[in-house]
This record gives sequence, structure tokens and C-alpha cells, in this order.
Amino acid sequence: MRKKIVAGNWKMNKTLEEASILASEVKGMIEDELMSGAIVVLCTPSLFLLPVRNILGDSKRIFVGAQNCSEHESGAFTGEISAAMLKSAKVPYVILGHSERRQYFGEDGALLARKVDAALKHNLTPIFCCGEPLEVRERNGHESLVKKQLEESLFHLDDTHILSVVIAYEPVWAIGTGKTASAQQAEDMHAVIRRHIASKYGQDTAESISILYGGSVNAANAKELFASKDVDGGLVGGASLKSREFTEIAKAI
Ligand code: PGA
Repeated sequence: MRKKIVAGNWKMNKTLEEASILASEVKGMIEDELMSGAIVVLCTPSLFLLPVRNILGDSKRIFVGAQNCSEHESGAFTGEISAAMLKSAKVPYVILGHSERRQYFGEDGALLARKVDAALKHNLTPIFCCGEPLEVRERNGHESLVKKQLEESLFHLDDTHILSVVIAYEPVWAIGTGKTASAQQAEDMHAVIRRHIASKYGQDTAESISILYGGSVNAANAKELFASKDVDGGLVGGASLKSREFTEIAKAI
């Protein structure tokens, strides 16, 4: 059985004090209320990874994650954080290829392939994001674009390493817009992604990989989105900044 995962992407939000309060509240609620075996990940700004990890402690159901890492091992790359550093700080997850990184920081498929390799080399779990902008959806190019994103950044992996990747399908037009994909649109794309993985790695591997949906997930729409058979959880932005709402989303899986 593949893992059910609800990850919060805090993006560039919160002060240290606010981040600490949010992490403590989420931890308390998840430990008290989450009945499923789902995994919860809090992807915080880099500066807050250690304090949040310390707040979460050795929990087996709630973990900390980074929002990015460098493709380089170490060296003169001012402002960057390496996968080795994340590993040494006991940060098990890292988001890679978020559409904001692709759009504002020029990250392309080849660079993301190298970042995926760096993360896997240090036994981190990449949460690899893919998804199409609105104009691509409107000209019906979403399936081919997302397949290309997978091919460019993941399909060089061998049969073992691909199993360590979590995929997040995030249509760009649904991120931060309040305009979520319908459950049918999400399921259709998740099935496309799973079939594409199966075409390269076989059905068993495709069935073992968690595919999360992201884009305006909230407490009101999570249950319907998560009910689809190929949707294994969510990557949640805005709604992950509120402990009660985020917990309700996690409970919807
Ligand atoms: P959103 O962001 O939930 O605020 O739409 C999702 C994301 O960017 O991962």
C-alpha cells in the first residue's frame, strides 16, 4: 500500500515565534485527532526547520520538510542549502520543482533532475511537483506537459530510486487562486501520471508511488479531492498556515 501524505507548504510565511506556535498546535491536534495512518509533513522556511523539527520531536506521523535544496554537494553557493545539510539536520523531506521555483527562479527540468539526484543521494524523500499553467490547460496540452516534466526530471532514475519519490500534481492555475481542480480533473491527471510511470517502470512500481494533489486545497474540498483512487493526499499552501484548517485537511485523508 502506498503512503497517504498531507504536506503543508508554508512558503515564505511566519516569524519564528508564529512558526513555533503553528508547529506546536498542529502537532498536538494531529497526535490527538488523526486516526488514519497518514503521514503529515510541515515544509517550513529553511530558517525554521530545526526549531520545528525540535517541536515535532520523534513523532512517527508528523515530519519536517524543506521547500528546496541545491543540486550541488557543497561549496561556494551563497545562500543555498544542500541535501547533505538537510540530512545532517534530520530533515527527511524536500519539495522540489514547485511551480514558484520554476517560475521565479528559472528552475528547469534538467536542473530539477540534478536536485532530485542530490536529494536521493542523501536519502531524502523528494516531493516532486509538476503541473501545467492555465494557457497550457486551455489548449489541452496539460497531459503532454506533465508527462514531459516527469520524463525530464525523474525518468533517469533506476527502478529502486523512483520508489523513493513522492509526486505532487499542482495545476498552476489552482495554486493560491482559490480555484481548485475538480475531483474529476485531479483524478484524471493523477491517473495519467500513474499510467506514465507504469509505462516506464511497470504497474507495481506505479501503484507504490504516492501522488499528492495541490492547488487551493482546503478543509471544505479536501474530502472530495482525496476520495479519488489515485489521489494519495495533498500538498497544501495557504490552508497549511492555520492549524485547525490544516488538521481538518489531514483528517480528510
Ligand atoms: P495553495 O498552494 O494551497 O495556497 O493553492 C499550494 C502549493 O503551492 O503547494
